[in-house]
Amino acid sequence: MTRVRTPDDLLDLLDALLIDRGGVERWDALFADRPRACPFLVDDPDENLAGWVEQGLLQPGRALELGCGHGRNAVFLAAHGWDVDAVDLSAQALGWARERAAAAGVVVTSHHRSLFDLVVEPGAYDLVYDSGCLHHVAPHRRPQYLDLVRRALAPGGRFGLVCFGPDGGSGLTDAEVYQRRTLGGGLGFSDGQLRALCSDGFCVEELRPMDPSVPGRFGEGYLTVLLATRVTSG
Ligand SMILES: C[S@@+](CC[C@H](N)C(=O)[O-])C[C@H]1O[C@@H](n2cnc3c(N)ncnc32)[C@H](O)[C@@H]1O
Repeated sequence: MTRVRTPDDLLDLLDALLIDRGGVERWDALFADRPRACPFLVDDPDENLAGWVEQGLLQPGRALELGCGHGRNAVFLAAHGWDVDAVDLSAQALGWARERAAAAGVVVTSHHRSLFDLVVEPGAYDLVYDSGCLHHVAPHRRPQYLDLVRRALAPGGRFGLVCFGPDGGSGLTDAEVYQRRTLGGGLGFSDGQLRALCSDGFCVEELRPMDPSVPGRFGEGYLTVLLATRVTSG
């Protein structure tokens, strides 16, 4: 049995409990099958992100996208003047994202690794964006995920998130994840859970269901949208 000497050993041990840990092969297979019918395998950016940018709520700066997939949101940001770092653990996804960026004539800096292996310059980013990645993060990794977002953001920087709402994901509780050893395709979050996640270091500005009715924009009613500002205490 693995010896637990450090907190990281414990996280690794909990990762190993889950049969869908990491999921690189699953994500690579999904992004390799480009014609596949899958809600987010579209070209359009998220309606919330496009709205925030087009309304001037988010002004161009440095953005970090976590779990960028095939790059529809990263390319949208780059085309609107952002300097974008995009992270994903799927090589297939990043290959597609690079093609998308080239076709749009924009630069997106891609990072092929797990977000948990990412080293960020503290306070370097004006925006950290995640559309559909957090709900694939196991509960024991959430504190590490939030530490990354807090560390990456400058004071006043924004955290934009799209994740499964309570009626969206697998419906599994955190305890059931470990009893069944799976996230069951992604975890749903209530508004209360999202507010609790943001209670240390963020001020929530917007929290609502995603709008599926915006023409030319991606939206699904079972997803929740959150925008929060990075605040520092004292
Ligand atoms: C549901 S897809 C969303 C893709 C993209 N954000 C979009 O909305 O089009 C989730 C993405 O997160 C990536 N991902 C999952 N866990 C990750 C991790 N630990 N580090 C980096 N990327 C991860 C997957 O490879 C996949 O591309």
